[in-house]
Amino acid sequence: MMECAGSNKNVPSRKQNRVDILKQFQSRFFATSRLVSFPWTVLENDLELSKSSDVILEILKQGDAHLQVESAGCEPLDELYDALAEVVAAQDVTEGYRTYLLPRGDGVSLLENVALISEGTTGLVTWEAALYLAEWALDHPQTFAGRKVLELGSGAGLTGVVVCHSCGPSSYIFSDCHQSVLQRLRDNLSINGLLNNKTKTTRTEVSVQELDWTDMTEERLKEFSVEVVIAADVVYDPDVVVVLVQFLSKILKCSRGRVPAEVLICSTVRNPHTYAGFKHSLSDAGIGHRVMSGAVNHVFEYNRESEIELVQLYACQ
Ligand SMILES: C[S@@+](CC[C@H](N)C(=O)[O-])C[C@H]1O[C@@H](n2cnc3c(N)ncnc32)[C@H](O)[C@@H]1O
Repeated sequence: MMECAGSNKNVPSRKQNRVDILKQFQSRFFATSRLVSFPWTVLENDLELSKSSDVILEILKQGDAHLQVESAGCEPLDELYDALAEVVAAQDVTEGYRTYLLPRGDGVSLLENVALISEGTTGLVTWEAALYLAEWALDHPQTFAGRKVLELGSGAGLTGVVVCHSCGPSSYIFSDCHQSVLQRLRDNLSINGLLNNKTKTTRTEVSVQELDWTDMTEERLKEFSVEVVIAADVVYDPDVVVVLVQFLSKILKCSRGRVPAEVLICSTVRNPHTYAGFKHSLSDAGIGHRVMSGAVNHVFEYNRESEIELVQLYACQ
C-alpha cells in the first residue's frame, strides 16, 4: 500500500514537521540558546526518514551560518554542529546580541553579556522570569493597554520592550539602580526603536530612570503616578528582599485613596527559603498576594523546568 502523507489528521505531515524543526532551530539560534537545547533528535529522525540533507542547508541558510560553512569549503552535513557551536558558543566573547522572536515574526534584539553576573550586577542578561512575564503580558495585554507602567530592576529590558511593542501602554518607565545597566537599557531601547523620537515605533511614552529601592521617597513615587508596577527576578537575595518589600509597601501606600496600582512580581524560585522569606516579609508589612502564574503560550526559548511564580500584591485593610 502506498504511504499517504497527511491522511491521518492527528499525525503532523512531513512538511509540518520540517516547518517545526526549522522554527525551533531558528528561535534557539537567534536567542543564542545552549547547543544542548537544540532539537537534535527530531533532526536526526527527519534526516533518517527523508534520506536527504536538505533540512541542514535550510537550517544553515536561516541562521546565515551557511556563509561560514561555504567559505570554509566544507560539507554542510558534517559541519552543522561545528558551525552552530562557533556562532552560539564563541569562547572569548563577553557580550553579543540575542534576538527573541515575537509571535508576529518580528524580533526584540538585545545586547547582553555572556556571563550571568558581570560588572557587579545581574542586570546585563535576560533572566527566565523576564521571559515568562513577557509571555504572560502577551496573553494579558489588557493589563497594560492605555496604562502608565513602571518596571523595577528592568535589567537588559526584555519584558518592557515586549510590553511596549505588543500591549500598548500609554507610558512605560524602565528603571534600575546600576549605571552599566541603565546605559545598556538606553542602548537596547534605541536598538528596538523605543527611545529616539525620530525612529520611534510605538506611541508609548518611554523613559529610563535611575531608581534605587533603598532611597526612594513617597513624594517621588507620587510624581510617577503609575497604574501598573511590574518586576521580574528581583527576589534573589535575602538582603535585597528586605529593601524591596519596604519599597513595595511605599508604592501601595502611595496609591491608597486613588485607584490602587496593580503590582505584579515575577520570580524564579531558586531558593525556597529566600522566596518564603519574601512572602513572610510581605505579610509582616501588611501586603497580601494572590498567585497569577499559570500556563502561558510558549513564545520564547528558555528552560521551563525552574519554578516561576507571578504574584499580584495588594494592601491589606
Ligand atoms: C536578576 S536581575 C533581573 C533583570 C531583569 N528584570 C530580568 O529578569 O532579566 C535583577 C535586577 O534588579 C536590579 N536591582 C537590584 N537591586 C536593586 C535596587 N536596590 N534598586 C533597583 N534595582 C535593583 C539589578 O540591577 C538587576 O538589574
